[in-house]
Amino acid sequence: MRKKINVAIAGVGNCASAFIQGIQYYGSDYSASNSDIIGLTSFNLGGYEPSDINFVAAFDIADTKVGKDLSESVFATPNNAMSVANVPPFDVKVNKGNVLDGFGRRYSEKVKISDAPQSDVASILKDSKADILVNYLPVGSREATRFYAEECLESKVCFINAIPVFIASDPNWQNRFIDKNIPCAGDDVMSQMGATVIHKTLARLLVDRGVSVDETFQLNVGGDMDFYNMLDEDRLEDKRISKTAAVQAMVPYDVPMRIGPSDYINFLQNDKVCYIYLKGRILGAVPIELDLKLRVPDAYNSAGVMIDAVRGAKIALDRNISGPLESISAYCFKHPPVQMSYSAAKSNFIDFINGKKDK
Ligand SMILES: NC(=O)c1ccc[n+]([C@@H]2O[C@H](COP(=O)([O-])OP(=O)(O)OC[C@H]3O[C@@H](n4cnc5c(N)ncnc54)[C@H](O)[C@@H]3O)[C@@H](O)[C@H]2O)c1
Repeated sequence: MRKKINVAIAGVGNCASAFIQGIQYYGSDYSASNSDIIGLTSFNLGGYEPSDINFVAAFDIADTKVGKDLSESVFATPNNAMSVANVPPFDVKVNKGNVLDGFGRRYSEKVKISDAPQSDVASILKDSKADILVNYLPVGSREATRFYAEECLESKVCFINAIPVFIASDPNWQNRFIDKNIPCAGDDVMSQMGATVIHKTLARLLVDRGVSVDETFQLNVGGDMDFYNMLDEDRLEDKRISKTAAVQAMVPYDVPMRIGPSDYINFLQNDKVCYIYLKGRILGAVPIELDLKLRVPDAYNSAGVMIDAVRGAKIALDRNISGPLESISAYCFKHPPVQMSYSAAKSNFIDFINGKKDK
């Protein structure tokens, strides 16, 4: 019998929906050929296939989701990610999590908080034998993210942080996970073909080709709850830091830059449109400009990356590795403990999976 990866989810929004549907898409009867591994680093990663991921617990606070089976709640409003696979019942009920700052002003305009009693998250994680909790809360959920990280420490569950609140990249939290002998990875998942990986790769290319990078910006618009919530500039600080640091790390001098979510356009639904602009100078201080537009269904763009991150974290658990997982985080997240160019991050990740690197 194949070894399973028991996963719990905090925040059953669009990203959780695409992650769960992506795993169903590559179900246990899927036969992969080499050319047919779209969206994943590898169909079999260190012995784990996507269908080895097994959902054992889920937490949300929305009244449309709490109390439902996880398979139903991924399609509940206001989720609007497209459907690519049937999701059979999991027999996993969505429990009421801890509200804290999870719902900001914008979120509360559209969604009611469930009046179900708050669950005991650490006990549910223990009883369900979860190996890993994936944190998919809205941007700006600093207190709620710290709460779920604490519950992981208490229940000895690996924490994977998909959102821009700094846990895996924060030295205090890193030490707490090391002390408890539990791994963690994050922060802020980096999409497969998203604005960050393209922007950082272009910035590095310009530097490598001897171009002086003088100015750059990245504008992003979308029509889902992630973008609606991000209209609230007060919740955006960490998102801007995370996205900006990823690009700045590719250029060995300070560059004026403005990077972040820019507006909500409801008819875009779960599509995100991004515009990247770079201005530089080549030989003779001659100016050049580069403009790029990308349109992509946002939730699916991060789902395959998370399938890889979860399998990598389980390999770390199997090897009894604790603390921040540097290679997985640099490859799969925007604000990792150690920033790397995309190519260095990928080769370190593969070396980690193959046992040639410790973490
Ligand atoms: N490609 C991508 O989509 C991408 C990339 C990078 C980061 N992210 C981040 O991932 C996160 C999730 O994105 P999404 O599109 O699924 O957002 P979403 O708004 O669709 O989902 C968030 C879910 O969290 C729930 N929630 C809110 N507070 C909670 C709490 N205290 N406890 C439990 N559940 C709570 C909400 O009810 C909702 O179901 C966001 O922070 C987003 O910025 C997404």
